[in-house]
Amino acid sequence: MYLGILDTPELASAAAARIVLAVFKKEPNSILGVTTGSTPEGLYAELRAAHARGEFTLANSQAFALDEYVGISADHYERYRNVLRRELVGSRNTGLKNENLHSPNGLVSNSAAVAAQYDRDIRDAGGIDLQILGIGSNGHIGFNEPGGSLVSRTHVTPLSRQTILANARFFGHYPRNVPKTCITQGLGTIMEARILLLLAFGENKAEAVAQLAEGPISARWPATITQMHPEVYVVTDAAAASKLELSELYQERWALKFGA
Ligand code: GLP
Repeated sequence: MYLGILDTPELASAAAARIVLAVFKKEPNSILGVTTGSTPEGLYAELRAAHARGEFTLANSQAFALDEYVGISADHYERYRNVLRRELVGSRNTGLKNENLHSPNGLVSNSAAVAAQYDRDIRDAGGIDLQILGIGSNGHIGFNEPGGSLVSRTHVTPLSRQTILANARFFGHYPRNVPKTCITQGLGTIMEARILLLLAFGENKAEAVAQLAEGPISARWPATITQMHPEVYVVTDAAAASKLELSELYQERWALKFGA
């Protein structure tokens, strides 16, 4: 695991963007795994800017969403597919074509079959090359909440109370308006991506980041499973890194790979 600690979310987003650009420079048609939440917004802005400069495009790529709410209406502003369309799709964004943005369909009643099909779709496309991730303050990635299987596949699952409260800000601050169920890539699915790029900003992520890098691998903190992945980049701001014990060592390792 490489851990980059930048002073601000803006600097961290720029560092994360450099990693994405380097992957696409090497393999222009890479398959990108994309996440939602506040955290990747700066990274997506960097990717749109790089696209505008002609340095990056998703025009020939496919993207797979990490998760989706179940039962949210098709035109809901916070439906993850709609969020990702606004952030990434179109020539004024990153060039990604709408038909090349894949997301689990949370609108159907047989979501278990949809979940199994989603795993097959990822496999049939050749697998995800680079998966962008955020992290919940309880250590979830995607919607893999504490206590779930560390080897799960894409599945339907309830959201924890903590996540419902955290996401209420996207639903007029009313927890009752937050969908109670979601469909998420499983931890086993996420672990098959060739490269993981996880971003975490802010003091409220500090405990989750400390567990992620230094805690024992445990379903209590689902993101800890990424310690078993061969190529993980974690990019944080100073606040999210504030509970790490060995930040100096991580900085040195990062500087050796990317320069200071
Ligand atoms: C959400 C998403 C996750 C995201 C996390 C953190 O519920 N399902 O994929 O990483 O919670 O969100 P934020 O970046 O807004 O803090």
